[in-house]
Amino acid sequence: MNGKTVHIKNYGCQMNKLDTALVSSALCEAGFSPAGSEKEADVVLINTCSVRQHAEERVFSHLGHLKHIKKSRPGLVVGVIGCMAQRLGDKLLEHEAVDIVCGPAQIPQITKLVTETLQEKKETIAVTEKIRQRSSESQTQALERFESAYGIEDKQIPGQAFVRAMRGCNNFCTYCIVPFVRGPETSRAPAAIIEQIKRLAGEGVKLVTLLGQRVNSYKYRSGEKTYCLADLLEMASEVDGIEWLRFVTSYPCEEFFDDILQAMADLPKACNYLHIPAQSGSDKILRAMNRRYSAGEYLGLLGKARAVVPGIAIAGDFMVGFPGETEEDFEGTVELVKKAKYKNCFIFKYSPRPGTAADKEKKDNVPAEVKKTRNIELLDVQNKISAEMNRKFLNKEVRVLVEGPSKKPHLNRGGSENSPQLVGRTATDYIVVFNGPVSLAGEFVKVKITETSALTLFGELI
Ligand code: SAH
Ligand code: SF4
Ligand code: F3S
Repeated sequence: MNGKTVHIKNYGCQMNKLDTALVSSALCEAGFSPAGSEKEADVVLINTCSVRQHAEERVFSHLGHLKHIKKSRPGLVVGVIGCMAQRLGDKLLEHEAVDIVCGPAQIPQITKLVTETLQEKKETIAVTEKIRQRSSESQTQALERFESAYGIEDKQIPGQAFVRAMRGCNNFCTYCIVPFVRGPETSRAPAAIIEQIKRLAGEGVKLVTLLGQRVNSYKYRSGEKTYCLADLLEMASEVDGIEWLRFVTSYPCEEFFDDILQAMADLPKACNYLHIPAQSGSDKILRAMNRRYSAGEYLGLLGKARAVVPGIAIAGDFMVGFPGETEEDFEGTVELVKKAKYKNCFIFKYSPRPGTAADKEKKDNVPAEVKKTRNIELLDVQNKISAEMNRKFLNKEVRVLVEGPSKKPHLNRGGSENSPQLVGRTATDYIVVFNGPVSLAGEFVKVKITETSALTLFGELI
């Protein structure tokens, strides 16, 4: 213990959640302890996302709040880590609240940066200058060491953990900032991944989710053999204690698919769940986005997935209001959503990101109002489908991995002190809410479904 406390706030995707867990356990290892709240912390770190402007605005508003806290507590150290740190670099240091800026590829340095800032009261920065250049051997090794040494003590949800299969992205979808903040695509060595999964299993982890921006293109050459995601799933399946395996996010392309679907069908531990964003149902827009498939090919892949893996649950992402999206293009998206029969969908309004091809070459010409109505309409279409799919669970028993207490009371039933409302998920990622003791967090339970809505299944513990 060094007597100092740290609070970390996470924005962004699963990659960021994983990084937050890594940073948190690295700092604990170095003697810091978690602060009860931001108000009591000596160090506040914000792990940030650049994917849409709104994500960045939330961070700036948080920083504005911290600036006020710093007026009464000048000793407070504030660090910005993650994708915004990489994107904005020293511009962030100009913000009155910010003392530390550390990009995603530099997180192995976090303990050093925080300690130096606390001791020397100076600002520190670590971002990768040429993010698209392949990282040096020593940098990769530092990331690997950081990755495998930490991140297992801080399990954000009991019984579950993320494990990185790949870093970065080479896809360059024209709207997307990720390749510019996370760098080139690299697959981690299978031995390192499996070692990490074994350690997690030893600590009680039952569900591992393998992460990559295009995780289905995982490829690692070692001697004569090239390992793909199906190999990784098979190897991870052999780890005792692990009961469920998931992977996100998949890119819709034929090339990497058959083996993975077969592995999913053959391996009992591989959850029958696929998150496979389509982004649009218009071939013209898909081309402009540099997504390398047509709406027809995409639906063909879903058909194949359903044929090889009966009962598979499929989730998607869509973007509305991409430059040049006409009413007709949007209708194509609505049609695709109707045909795809997703379990659920994430829908975003296009947000121009500085430096991306779409921002440089195209005008953000769909008015905000139109983006908003298209977003609402698409969500409405999907909600009807989700509600219908969820109804099929009525009176059925499902196996659920319990996450913990539900954050808001559903159906206005909070439950009693000994049996509050809990939330968990099925293997296929359906959200289940029921009453039970908090001690069930991290355990598998059986729940009988008694009520359903578009987003949630409600039930009773069996
Ligand atoms: N690698 C994943 C997801 C990356 S970002 C994939 O390829 O699907 C998560 C989601 O954010 C994307 O699926 C996309 O729908 C959305 N997104 C990305 N960039 C965006 C932008 N500039 N504006 C709005 N939404 C965006
Ligand atoms: Fe972004 Fe496309 Fe890479 Fe996904 S695949 S992270 S959307 S560039
Ligand atoms: Fe994730 Fe946002 Fe970065 S989506 S990779 S945290 S830009």
